[in-house]
Amino acid sequence: MPKISRKGQLMPSSPIRKLVPYAEQAYKDGKTVYHLNIGQPDIKTPEVAMDAVKNTSLDILAYSRSEGSEGYRKKIAQYYAKNDIHVDHNDIIVTTGGSEALLFAFGSIMDSDDEIIIPEPFYANYNGFSTASDIKVVPVISKIEDNFALPAIEEFEKLITDKTKAILICNPGNPTGYLYSREEIKKLEAIVKKHDLFLIADEVYREFVYDGNEFYSIMQEEGLEEHAIMIDSVSKRYSMCGARIGYLVSKNKEVIKTALKFAQARLSPPTLAQIAAEAALDTPQSYFDDVIVEYVKRRNTLIKELKTIEGLKIAEPKGAFYCIVELPIKSADHFAQWLLESYEYNKQTVMVAPAAGFYSTPNMGLNQIRIAYVLNEETLIKAVHILKEALKVYPN
Ligand SMILES: Cc1ncc(COP(=O)(O)O)c(C=O)c1O
Repeated sequence: MPKISRKGQLMPSSPIRKLVPYAEQAYKDGKTVYHLNIGQPDIKTPEVAMDAVKNTSLDILAYSRSEGSEGYRKKIAQYYAKNDIHVDHNDIIVTTGGSEALLFAFGSIMDSDDEIIIPEPFYANYNGFSTASDIKVVPVISKIEDNFALPAIEEFEKLITDKTKAILICNPGNPTGYLYSREEIKKLEAIVKKHDLFLIADEVYREFVYDGNEFYSIMQEEGLEEHAIMIDSVSKRYSMCGARIGYLVSKNKEVIKTALKFAQARLSPPTLAQIAAEAALDTPQSYFDDVIVEYVKRRNTLIKELKTIEGLKIAEPKGAFYCIVELPIKSADHFAQWLLESYEYNKQTVMVAPAAGFYSTPNMGLNQIRIAYVLNEETLIKAVHILKEALKVYPN
């Protein structure tokens, strides 16, 4: 039989999606499953975006330019300017989701066996994108006890080799909810300059920042122009995950020139979705204000309810809509499966994401789960109650 590639065999399956068959069985068994496991917001997509798709009068759904339509990129540059990020539309490549922007970034700056340092826990698909790009993730461990703050710079320095090409951060963080301060970005700036590395920042949750904290982008940092690559996406910002639109942004002309070749190879980002995403840029500020109020309420409710469970450790999120919770159990993998397969509370159960998949260091996060607070407050209260009752009877 012809053989599957080594890369193909090494590709990790998604830690979030691997429990899906158990959830499907739970539905078949007549259980209601509350999904705390996946970052699919229940917030409505802005009307302006939906209307733009409904009202389109295209005769041919043609390819767009490989880097995205010029009009759209000019509007994106205006959106950034409002956020104090000053880039030209030619510094932007529109991609098929932030996912493709990550792949283009990895492909543009790293060769086989090159290394990328990532604070862990990190967005699980960074593992998959690294495997697909044949590069090695070198994790630097951030701790729940420190709320997942940036590890000391000495920890990064210890890991730098002649194969190291980049440091990747997610700000605000999925799965940690951590928001990097300006000082932390400056520390990263110093290290990437000293060792001549790229700094990639996945800023897809930029708008989701709470408690009056300020978001600080790597693109705002003067002097970092040649090092900084920003990954962005409309998926969460406008609750339009299915549009599949993201961007790679960099002032480094060589990076853009190279990423454009990857973009040309796949011809075009989705044309219809660009129409929706361009219109979404006209979303009124009141939409975001309402969304943030809603997420703050959800986060506060979630944390308050979780704190009623004994033996839990929680890293309090300052942004995005996730948090990591350490449970008084041995295996979150087993627990998550057990919740779906063997547990019910008045015909209801919860689905959580075991956190081990958000680490690349073996045996890390085994007793942790990631909770996405993408459900309304009432449902969150029910879901945490079920979690609490389940822990009481879980045969640890
Ligand atoms: C941190 C982070 N980066 C990138 C992505 C990719 O999103 P998309 O490809 O939908 O833009 C996600 C999606 O959940 C994410 O959480």
